[in-house]
Amino acid sequence: MKRIAVIGTGYVGLVTGTCFAELGDTVICLDNNRQKIETLRGGQAPFYEPQLLEMIVRNQHAGRLFFSTDVAAGIRDSEVLFIAVDTPMADDGAVDLSAVRAVAAAIGQALNGPKTVISKSTVPVETGDLIASIIAENSSEHHRIDVVSNPEFLREGSAVADFMQPDRIVIGTNSAQAEALMRELYRSLDAPILVTDVRTSEMIKYAANAFLATKISFMNEIANICDLVDVDVKAVGRGIGLDHRIGTQFMSPGIGFGGSCFPKDVRALEMIAAGRQYEALLLRAVETVNRRQIDRTLAKIVAAVGGDARGKTVGVLGLAFKPNTDDVREAPAVHIIERLLAAGAAIRAHDPVAGPAVRAKLGERIVYCEQMYEALHEADALLLATEWNEYKNIDFVMVRKLMRGDKVVDGRNLFDPDAVVAAGLDYIGMGRRKTRRAARAVPLSS
Ligand SMILES: NC(=O)c1ccc[n+]([C@@H]2O[C@H](COP(=O)([O-])OP(=O)(O)OC[C@H]3O[C@@H](n4cnc5c(N)ncnc54)[C@H](O)[C@@H]3O)[C@@H](O)[C@H]2O)c1
Repeated sequence: MKRIAVIGTGYVGLVTGTCFAELGDTVICLDNNRQKIETLRGGQAPFYEPQLLEMIVRNQHAGRLFFSTDVAAGIRDSEVLFIAVDTPMADDGAVDLSAVRAVAAAIGQALNGPKTVISKSTVPVETGDLIASIIAENSSEHHRIDVVSNPEFLREGSAVADFMQPDRIVIGTNSAQAEALMRELYRSLDAPILVTDVRTSEMIKYAANAFLATKISFMNEIANICDLVDVDVKAVGRGIGLDHRIGTQFMSPGIGFGGSCFPKDVRALEMIAAGRQYEALLLRAVETVNRRQIDRTLAKIVAAVGGDARGKTVGVLGLAFKPNTDDVREAPAVHIIERLLAAGAAIRAHDPVAGPAVRAKLGERIVYCEQMYEALHEADALLLATEWNEYKNIDFVMVRKLMRGDKVVDGRNLFDPDAVVAAGLDYIGMGRRKTRRAARAVPLSS
């Protein structure tokens, strides 16, 4: 069995390495972040992801999963190298490939035999060729190198399940030998495998994220119009989603998309197009709608507290960019909080797991609450920013008692508006009408 090294032990690399170990492979996860590797060696996870820690510990104990900062040694000892380093947005909006370049150089310098180098990082078309040429430039030895694109589609919050039961596996390679190795690696997963050339595979990842982001911005736009015409967007979403060409998934409007992928990937694709003299108008609109969703949410909150946020307290439920993760990269909640602070509001916030990550960004400028109800103490308005399950059944009678004001801004359309109103609170959703009749027009059982 071939030894696997995963270079970059972040959300993607750690899940990938751990899941391959779970499938019986021997894996070493490498990272240049010493603290992260120490944490993992100590049997802890560096971030929150459901099911992951148990799997890490189990596979460490089974002698299949290792962690190291010695990237060169890890490369030398392995035939299969996954690149899973970050590819963030550079200042100009393009992709910053410096970590990918550094890893390719490290592979070249440590090269001691044939390797299959697989990019799981999201990278622009032609990066496969770039990786191959950087490896060659940095190596004094000549060995067979197959560079493969194998984009990752996992979602934080359900990453382990997504790895183990993927909708599809995309393998971008021009080599029959590399294709056979990739099929062998994924042999125990029951998923369709799509084999393309490297460039197509690189493009598939951007196109997938751009499409999903477009869906979100589309529903946000519809919700904004629903607000203006007093129509309930939930019923509209269902009414259009039952058309199989449209589908019911990913049809929930909210305060906008965030996270480490959609914002940067939409922008990157736009920049890739711009670099070839194509103006990607739809992608730009997707970004603009998303940015304005923050403005609109802020405007709703400010209006709810009387038109001026100075001296007002907003209780924020949910900080992570989505539920079941502590990732706050580009989290809309954090952007809104920063805007509210600038407008003079005080913030009391709760998140089941993301508090420490937000504290690292915002310091002590807000109050971090251990319990969700604490965040509502003397609040003039409540903002539901992340749809964690535990907020679903919040006791609005208790909320009413705790709050100074009565405004509930449901940024994810999580709450039952009738329950909010029944408790004597004022419900403000994203495209939800005040009177609740619209849903009945849609057959709910089909
Ligand atoms: N996070 C997601 O949900 C997700 C999903 C699909 C694809 N992706 C893509 O996967 C890639 C990784 O994303 P992530 O969220 O896991 O990033 P991350 O920031 O969580 O992890 C990247 C890791 O790489 C390490 N690293 C950077 N340079 C290194 C080097 N030279 N040598 C060794 N280690 C190095 C960093 O220390 C970090 O631990 C990105 O391209 C991203 O777009 C992410």
